[in-house]
Amino acid sequence: MAGVDRPRPCRHISETMSTTISPAAIKPISIVIAPNQVLKARARPVQDKDADVVRDLIPRMFAAMYAAPGIGLAAPQVAESLRLIIIDLKPNDKFEPLTLINPEIVAATEELATREEGCLSLPNMYADVTRPAKVKVRYLDEFGARKEIEGEGLMSACLQHEIDHLDGILFVDHLSILKRNMIMRRLAKEQREKKR
Ligand code: NI
Repeated sequence: MAGVDRPRPCRHISETMSTTISPAAIKPISIVIAPNQVLKARARPVQDKDADVVRDLIPRMFAAMYAAPGIGLAAPQVAESLRLIIIDLKPNDKFEPLTLINPEIVAATEELATREEGCLSLPNMYADVTRPAKVKVRYLDEFGARKEIEGEGLMSACLQHEIDHLDGILFVDHLSILKRNMIMRRLAKEQREKKR
């Protein structure tokens, strides 16, 4: 895999971040629907100066993701162009929230796997996407600690899908132009009908 800029760890995030998600205190945040410029942009790395924004953002993103419901969400999907993603696959119906700040894929298998994917920014749209079967991702957690996760199966697809969002890539961008256009037209039609 090509080298990626190594962002500095966020020293100050650990001092200020809380993992407690108290729903009463959470301001709702809405999810951006495609097409939208913020979904196409390359998001910038989270830095120390973003600690307050990120601390406020994480619980609101989890609230939006669980409400949708979804298993992953990237900051650009809530109109914050920052390299921050959240994931919860809820194994055995238990909450297992994962916050990844400045995630980078550091290794990927040559072996590929195809799974059906959807996206909260493309509601009700699904398609098979082929990606590396396993990936290793380096990131900072919500406390600013350096972490590494190896994902396979659903976790692998989810990590790659969410990290794609940070580079302005949607799952439909992995499809043929024909399939992509079909989905985007169907989405636009559904969104128009919803507004009526
Ligand atoms: Ni998505």
